[in-house]
Amino acid sequence: MAHSIAVIVGSLRKQSFTLKVANALAKLAPATLKLDVITLHEISFFNQDLEAAPPADWMAFREKLQKANGVLFVTPEYNRSIPGVLKNAIDVGSRPYGKSSFLGKPIGIVGNSPGALGAVNAVKHLQNIMPGIAGPILGQPEIYLNGVGDAFDDKGQLTKEPVQKVLQQYIDAFAAFVEKQNK
Ligand SMILES: Cc1cc2nc3c(=O)[nH]c(=O)nc-3n(C[C@H](O)[C@H](O)[C@H](O)COP(=O)(O)O)c2cc1C
Repeated sequence: MAHSIAVIVGSLRKQSFTLKVANALAKLAPATLKLDVITLHEISFFNQDLEAAPPADWMAFREKLQKANGVLFVTPEYNRSIPGVLKNAIDVGSRPYGKSSFLGKPIGIVGNSPGALGAVNAVKHLQNIMPGIAGPILGQPEIYLNGVGDAFDDKGQLTKEPVQKVLQQYIDAFAAFVEKQNK
């Protein structure tokens, strides 16, 4: 059976390039992976006061993570880091203390930007955040997609061949990584 992957999209924007990249990855994924693209619109602010009786949206998000065989972050960069909505979702998923819903899950990280640097800082920050609360992070290949602004057509389909090529390489490597970690 295919491994299920929670793909967490770091942007809420309707026309988000990040969301389009996530959807492109879902199409390119080999048959050994089933990608579930998750947006973060529904996740309320983390507040430690609510931990004793967590809101339903936190519980639903945690459950999706727990059921997954791996987690793939697809993120833009905001002010040289990850967007606040993504950090909030990670905080929600990481609790209760010691019972992170990311624990043991193999992690992939895909940075993208219409700019020149491909969200490298956001990726590096995620590589700092995750080790204490998750399983191993795929180190190679790294992926920092730059110039995504002209990579998609009006329908959101990926048309830029070099981008497709690196996404294919990444998702194939991630599939092999997930396979190994779930043995
Ligand atoms: C608050 C804010 C901060 C941003 N900071 C960066 C940045 O540090 N590096 C970068 O490459 N792009 C930055 N951008 C531009 C984003 O890469 C661009 O808006 C991108 O389209 C956002 O991702 P999305 O298309 O998935 O919504 C920033 C955009 C916003 C709104």
